[in-house]
Amino acid sequence: MQIIDGKATSAEIKKEIAEEVKVFVAEGNRRPHLAAVLVGHDGGSETYVAFKIKDCEEVGFTSSLIRFEDDVTEETLLKRIAELNTDPEIDGFIVQLPLPDHISEQKIIEAIDPEKDVDGFHPVNVGKTVIGLPSFVSATPFGIILLLKRFNIETSGKNCVIVGRSNIVGRPLSVLMSQKAINATVTVAHSRTKDLKEVCRNADILVAALGSPEFIKEDMVKEGAVVIDVGTTRVKSDLTKSGFKLKGDVEYETVAPKCSYITPVPGGVGPMTRVSLLLNTMIAAKTRRPGA
Ligand code: GUN
Repeated sequence: MQIIDGKATSAEIKKEIAEEVKVFVAEGNRRPHLAAVLVGHDGGSETYVAFKIKDCEEVGFTSSLIRFEDDVTEETLLKRIAELNTDPEIDGFIVQLPLPDHISEQKIIEAIDPEKDVDGFHPVNVGKTVIGLPSFVSATPFGIILLLKRFNIETSGKNCVIVGRSNIVGRPLSVLMSQKAINATVTVAHSRTKDLKEVCRNADILVAALGSPEFIKEDMVKEGAVVIDVGTTRVKSDLTKSGFKLKGDVEYETVAPKCSYITPVPGGVGPMTRVSLLLNTMIAAKTRRPGA
């Protein structure tokens, strides 16, 4: 069994991006600039956005954090997004989700200029991804594809079962895994799937992306399978400084010995999601300055 070390892989990719930024700046371009919009004080969102800002510093990007209180109106948020869309200093931006209930996430996502939508959530980017056109691919599926490639994991003709059909992970990943460059045979399983255990046991590549801690047990996994754990549920813990620890969707201790490859939580898919956002921002910066 080999652990797919997303932390080490993302560190390698960050070094590559940092080198690319040096060349980009030496050619007379300003640094790529990512902005993050954060509404409220949700603990998870605060942590994720802080990591994104830190990642930008590490690779030499400029970053901006734009904060609003929980009671911000949808109108105010839309106005700020319109400003970011036309701000020539910003290459890409994200609006951290979830948003408070009085704000329509879909309306906010659709207000973002697709060319600055480095999260790849806008329907234009989702649609382009589906038909294989150049697009911003949502960060977690993008990170998973990068991991499979960097670990030379054979995907062609393999059965890939994705448990979870969210718009930001399961569904876009199913599209990418079935594309010609990857050539997997894809099943998307969900809460209404019959005989889920049997469906999962048929997977050469099993992706757990349902957000239910330790849902995937040993008897759901085929001997020698590749297991990708996308789960990141924050559970209370006395053992960490933050008072929380991350739990994956896979029962790691029992499942890992059966796998050919497995991603740990933390240190698997999570760091790759973060680095994918940097890659999308680099692409945005280069696209906005053709010839760079
Ligand atoms: N909330 C959870 N994951 C994400 C993400 O990848 N992007 C944004 N904007 N919000 C999130």
